Amino acid sequence: MSEWYCSVCHEILKGETKPGVCDICQADDRMIIKMEEVPKTLEQVRDAARTKLKGICAAYPSCDGNFDKICQREAYGKPIGLGGAGQGFSFRANAEALSRIQFNMSVLGDHFEPDTATRFLGIDLKFPVLSSSTAGAQKYNDALDETQFCISVLKGSKEAGTIGLRGDTWFYTREDHPSLNAMKACNGYGIPIFKPRSQDVLKKLIETAQEYGCKAVGVDLDGAGSTVMARQGMPVFKKSVKDIEELVRFTTLPFIAKGIMMPEEAQKCVDAGAAVIAVSNHGGRVLDSTPGVATVLPLIREKVGKSVLITADGGVRTGYDVLKMLALGADAVLLGRDIIRAAVGAGTLGVKLHLEHVHDTLKKAMFMTGTKNIKMVGSRILFNQN
Ligand SMILES: Cc1cc2nc3c(=O)[nH]c(=O)nc-3n(C[C@H](O)[C@H](O)[C@H](O)COP(=O)(O)O)c2cc1C
Repeated sequence: MSEWYCSVCHEILKGETKPGVCDICQADDRMIIKMEEVPKTLEQVRDAARTKLKGICAAYPSCDGNFDKICQREAYGKPIGLGGAGQGFSFRANAEALSRIQFNMSVLGDHFEPDTATRFLGIDLKFPVLSSSTAGAQKYNDALDETQFCISVLKGSKEAGTIGLRGDTWFYTREDHPSLNAMKACNGYGIPIFKPRSQDVLKKLIETAQEYGCKAVGVDLDGAGSTVMARQGMPVFKKSVKDIEELVRFTTLPFIAKGIMMPEEAQKCVDAGAAVIAVSNHGGRVLDSTPGVATVLPLIREKVGKSVLITADGGVRTGYDVLKMLALGADAVLLGRDIIRAAVGAGTLGVKLHLEHVHDTLKKAMFMTGTKNIKMVGSRILFNQN
């Protein structure tokens, strides 16, 4: 009798042939792995993702939107896949902006073990890195079921000591919304970010999120420029400050305004009552030729002061990148494409392994910049930035 591993719930199943479904969590056979083939390293997870995402993403060592990479084909009319909008200038700008930031390397002082713990929206996290809201992985070579994808992200994030956001896309409906299905399956331990749909639809989705016990809700305001929604003819809308105020008043949960790139607009969202400003250009997927997030982040922090939580995402691949974003003004950092690849490669296990790798590199970065804990992170650790 062979043993099989469910990469969503970790159950070990027995059977001569591969089980069609996990007895415990009902994940289908795409999430079930022969025991001997269960990935032990992140590299093995990424190898599995590379195979499953053939033709869409090659899980390159550097995910930077360079034009010669297979994801960058939107410019020629193909679907966006995992790439950037247009010619991918915004996608590349995220990586380039981070690459320009350098650390002051500090070697003198007492030996210490960096403490990465933090609190975010009242939740204790092992480190200030969250899985970002993403959606639509099911459409990539039918590699996995969308709800299983969402559950993998939420469970893997929790097991790594942090929390996951989940997204929204054209085939999510109120009746069958994989992000909300996963929130329910994970007892609400997650944060749904909805597309800027009509106010009425948003209120219904927010109500369900509240009912499931989610920790916060949000809208990716930049999703108004989603090329995926446009391709499928699904309506998304620009939101006014009044609309945001209305949603903030409607919900009892903290509200996240995601996709903010301008200091004035960040301030307007703060004034409208948002608890978190998510500085993001959607991984370069909604407007080509924006600055990189690391470029605008300090300007936004300067404008809004300490009054509000800020997250940053875009091109963050390692704990070194995380520390840069924190030093530039973020309270927490979100990971997009890397978490998709991790979940496609090995479900919950893949997400956990990926986040653990980022945690390890964050600790290294903190150690070598003389940063004992998250409260000590500041621009003094950056070369020529203070
Ligand atoms: C395939 C894909 C799907 C995404 N879907 C969503 C979504 O549904 N909602 C959302 O707020 N952001 C979405 N994003 C943006 C991410 O939340 C995040 O802002 C971005 O991926 C961060 O950049 P990175 O991928 O370089 O880490 C998506 C990004 C990708 C690559």
